Amino acid sequence: MNILVLNASPRRNGTISQAASRFMEGVAESVAGDFSEDTRIDVVNVADLKFSPCRGCMQCRKCGRCCLPQDDAHRIAEKIESCDVLVVAAPVYWGNIPGNLKMLFDRMVYALMAESRLGIPKPLHKGKDAYIITSCTTPFPFNVFCGQTSGVVRALKEILGTAGFKIRGKVVISGTKAKKGLSEHAGRCAYRLGFSLAS
Ligand SMILES: Cc1cc2nc3c(=O)[nH]c(=O)nc-3n(C[C@H](O)[C@H](O)[C@H](O)COP(=O)(O)O)c2cc1C
Repeated sequence: MNILVLNASPRRNGTISQAASRFMEGVAESVAGDFSEDTRIDVVNVADLKFSPCRGCMQCRKCGRCCLPQDDAHRIAEKIESCDVLVVAAPVYWGNIPGNLKMLFDRMVYALMAESRLGIPKPLHKGKDAYIITSCTTPFPFNVFCGQTSGVVRALKEILGTAGFKIRGKVVISGTKAKKGLSEHAGRCAYRLGFSLAS
């Protein structure tokens, strides 16, 4: 099993990075630390990537590849094509996913969906699973009712759902300012979800 984690927080020890680590600990525990050819985890820090923004030329819809010069967005698209499970870990920025993650997905449309002659999307990742980890400072229940973490979940459902991924689980962390980062409870939820993935 090839697990790809897209970490969209620029903070190496922030809530999202810690929750993603706990998630991976859960995966590791469930495979008894046996990361062989059978189970591999690849973590990509989106903030480290260098790529140009999508130009909206729509050529990729015809030729199935982005015609911009080779950069990290092409490289991540290849990783998505070969992954079995995709984990997207993204903090809430303005009630949505961070801009750099959105820019990355914009560049990878051709690796996520094809299109019928009438422009109807055809998912390219049917049968694959996805997981979401998200966090925000807005406390519960306002993170849900005011479209904060729910804004991230909605945006990722749109992208991952159109690509054919089935969202198997999510970790939603609220009120990170008051809690000063990842609470023990949230860490446990992330760990359990990771554990359930591989077992
Ligand atoms: C540019 C920016 C925009 C943000 N927008 C929101 C927001 O709309 N709602 C919210 O509740 N928190 C917002 N936050 C707070 C982050 O979502 C929160 O601190 C999150 O836990 C950060 O995760 P991290 O520590 O892993 O980076 C924002 C933070 C930044 C830097």
